[in-house]
Amino acid sequence: MSRLDFMINRLTAQRMLLEEAARLIGDRPGCVFELGLGSGRTFDHLRELLPDREIFAFDRAIGAHPKCIPDGDHMILGEIRETLGYCAPRIPGKPAFIHIDLGSGDPTQDLITRAWLSPHIAEWSEPGTIILADRPLEGSFENLPRPDGCPKSGHALLRAA
Ligand SMILES: C[S@@+](CC[C@H](N)C(=O)[O-])C[C@H]1O[C@@H](n2cnc3c(N)ncnc32)[C@H](O)[C@@H]1O
Repeated sequence: MSRLDFMINRLTAQRMLLEEAARLIGDRPGCVFELGLGSGRTFDHLRELLPDREIFAFDRAIGAHPKCIPDGDHMILGEIRETLGYCAPRIPGKPAFIHIDLGSGDPTQDLITRAWLSPHIAEWSEPGTIILADRPLEGSFENLPRPDGCPKSGHALLRAA
């Protein structure tokens, strides 16, 4: 598969899975975590899908399109490995949905990220929390089915047990 096809599949899958996650959280209360603001593409899509939810975006630096930068109360800057452990005072309860988009493209780095990230996600989850991760996680998470027609990708759609 060409790199172009790979990218198209990955982004198509990501959009379909974000929409499925928004459907799955339904009226469950809670905010949204966007781990990896990047250029703000998925943040922008999430705020369209979930206009009534508070979305907290995390990144080590702001590199997003100027129209896709959260306000200061909702942008948590720094290494996620550290900020996830200390941001609770500014977050109103546990998130209903956690979107993880931290992929580096380097398989070794991605395994390292999975190892430190999984316990943080378990800590921030409660039974029923929906998680869309750009990689499998370790822990008590149920794998949910992908929507019909969703292209194959490395994403995992999960529900915390
Ligand atoms: C793939 S991009 C995110 C793309 C974004 N969701 C979008 O749709 O535009 C990954 C982002 O995660 C951030 N990132 C990766 N690892 C991180 C870490 N350990 N702490 C903080 N930010 C991290 C990078 O700075 C980068 O902006």
